[in-house]
Amino acid sequence: MKKMEQLYEGKAKKVFKTDDENLYIVDYKDDATAFNGLKKGQIAGKGVVNNKMSNFLMQIMEKNGIPTHFVEEISDRETVVKRVEIVPLEVIIRNIAAGSFSKRFGVEEGKKLNCTTLEYCLKNDDLGDPMINDYQIIAIGAATKEDLDTIADLTFKVNDVLKDFMRNYLKDLNIDLIDFKIEFGKTPDGQIILADEISPDTCRLWDATTHEKLDKDRFRRDMGNVEEAYAEVFKRLGL
Ligand code: TMP
Repeated sequence: MKKMEQLYEGKAKKVFKTDDENLYIVDYKDDATAFNGLKKGQIAGKGVVNNKMSNFLMQIMEKNGIPTHFVEEISDRETVVKRVEIVPLEVIIRNIAAGSFSKRFGVEEGKKLNCTTLEYCLKNDDLGDPMINDYQIIAIGAATKEDLDTIADLTFKVNDVLKDFMRNYLKDLNIDLIDFKIEFGKTPDGQIILADEISPDTCRLWDATTHEKLDKDRFRRDMGNVEEAYAEVFKRLGL
């Protein structure tokens, strides 16, 4: 596999073409941003943690019948993934109230929700990733109804698998999955698969006993011990 020219540089990752037209290489950076890029910084070692954690979890998803972009980890920060066109949606699941949900609806952070919620934001930096509903997504053509149905089904399944994994298979983990954001891509043959990453950048992870935040909120909210939190999750996962 040959790494070819850079295709794209995002806030946290770079994407490269390869000599196989159906494969890309993602390269995870230590750069961190928040509030649509307004706050910028670095979290030393984050790229390694996010690469390895995401790959580990993507493989668990695959084992549970959820198709993903994962192909092969080729270095601490680099992974070969399937070429997809990203569906321009941030797909968010919440098990416990936090973040923008708590703010928007006036619900105390940490309150267990009566049911798991699914919400979407349109991926558009110029517009600040606005919240969008199913009808609006289909109306503007961000996804078809069929693709959105697939995305919703897969997203609830990801939540079930992740929660089950954290509770039952890795008891030492002692982490509660508060909420997370995932993204999907479409392969050249039209299959919807899980793409992007699953990491402390994109999940809220709280210590199940102390409720200490072990995720990017420590950076977003200037709480300190950011690197330590990423390293702690990495260690508890046994990576
Ligand atoms: P929110 O409460 O700020 O809407 O965030 C919900 C979840 O989505 C949380 O786990 C953090 C994650 N997230 C991202 O991955 N990228 C983003 O740009 C934002 C705003 C949140």
